Amino acid sequence: MPSDQKFDLGYLGGGQLARMSILAARPYGVSTLSLDPGEDTPAARVGKAIVGRLDRPEDIATLMRRCRRLTLENEFIPAEAILEAAKQADFDLANLVPGPGALATIQDKLSQRQAYQAAGVPSPHAVSLEDGGAQAKAEIGFPMVLKARFGGYDGKGTRYARTEAEFEQHADTWQKGGWLAEAFVPFVRELAVMVCVPENGPAACFPTMATEQRNHVCDVVYPCGSDGSKIAEAAVRAMGGIGLFGVELFELADGQLLVNEIAPRPHNTGHYTQNWGGTTQFEQHVRVALGLPIDTAPTGHPTSMANILGPDHGFDFKKARERLFATHPQAHLHWYGKAESRPGRKLGHINVAGGRDEALAARDAFFGV
Ligand SMILES: Nc1ncnc2c1ncn2[C@@H]1O[C@H](COP(=O)(O)OP(=O)(O)OP(=O)(O)O)[C@@H](O)[C@H]1O
Ligand SMILES: [Mg+2]
Repeated sequence: MPSDQKFDLGYLGGGQLARMSILAARPYGVSTLSLDPGEDTPAARVGKAIVGRLDRPEDIATLMRRCRRLTLENEFIPAEAILEAAKQADFDLANLVPGPGALATIQDKLSQRQAYQAAGVPSPHAVSLEDGGAQAKAEIGFPMVLKARFGGYDGKGTRYARTEAEFEQHADTWQKGGWLAEAFVPFVRELAVMVCVPENGPAACFPTMATEQRNHVCDVVYPCGSDGSKIAEAAVRAMGGIGLFGVELFELADGQLLVNEIAPRPHNTGHYTQNWGGTTQFEQHVRVALGLPIDTAPTGHPTSMANILGPDHGFDFKKARERLFATHPQAHLHWYGKAESRPGRKLGHINVAGGRDEALAARDAFFGV
């Protein structure tokens, strides 16, 4: 492409979510460019990419100058860096999906909780720990969950304090600043809903899924028979803005739902749509990011997903792939092409028709369990 021509869609971030969205953009005839600090990223292996920092306005501005529309694949890009970059590049922020307002609210877990509360969307009560914990002890009590307000993922910024003694044990962590305390939710299940809010017209939800975490990382996702779309859409509306959002919910024993958190991007719990026979979350992401009409009622066959996390021991990917297809010829493998494997790192996932047991059996076959 000549250097004066612009790409249709730019991605802030070059991980597996950008990669899968870029792969969905290709059949639509959409040209893409991703920005990431790493050189050999999952996205760079399937599309054009530039290297630069995601918290550096100059680098974001470079992407803005070269793309008509922009989207993101993680919520950690500081909203202020995006605002500054837009000034530098004279980029109209109406062409960024989701917008910086929703992003700023979501990337601070405390402001996210406050927005739910203001909108009357059920969610655990949360307070800041900047006062040394007095308000948290008075309003929340124990058990309590401590969270980093910014930058947490895969449970990396989450601590449990069952008692005051445990709360004090974590003091070295939360006293550094930037932590919140929230009520511990005795959930029976965790659910998730992908919600798409277009520029014009009503929101569209994908089916509600059950999600199980192992060591705080999403492990398996399957159809759940409950409908969380109403609260999920209300939660997204409380953030404002347009785009594709993954909404994580807690389900209580009496069926009541609470919002845990929102991710303003494609989400692990929507990966099953890649093989359910209907519109995928990545197609929906590309469409909403470009301002194209979205699928207003995505439907497909019941499909489940199991994550493939980097094992502690070395393993032979090619052998694992062969084992999977030898025993589960109808399974779908999605490999992210990461430069290196680390224990617990998301390396890929497997989608299969059916429920939880089918997904877990396919993954067991992959690992030779
Ligand atoms: N208030 C709570 N009560 C009980 N369990 C909680 C609470 N908050 C979080 N958890 C548990 O910890 C997990 C991780 O928490 P959360 O989703 O807030 O963190 P994260 O690290 O940002 O997320 P992710 O794992 O989605 O990247 C949740 O999926 C849930 O299992
Ligand atoms: Mg979460």
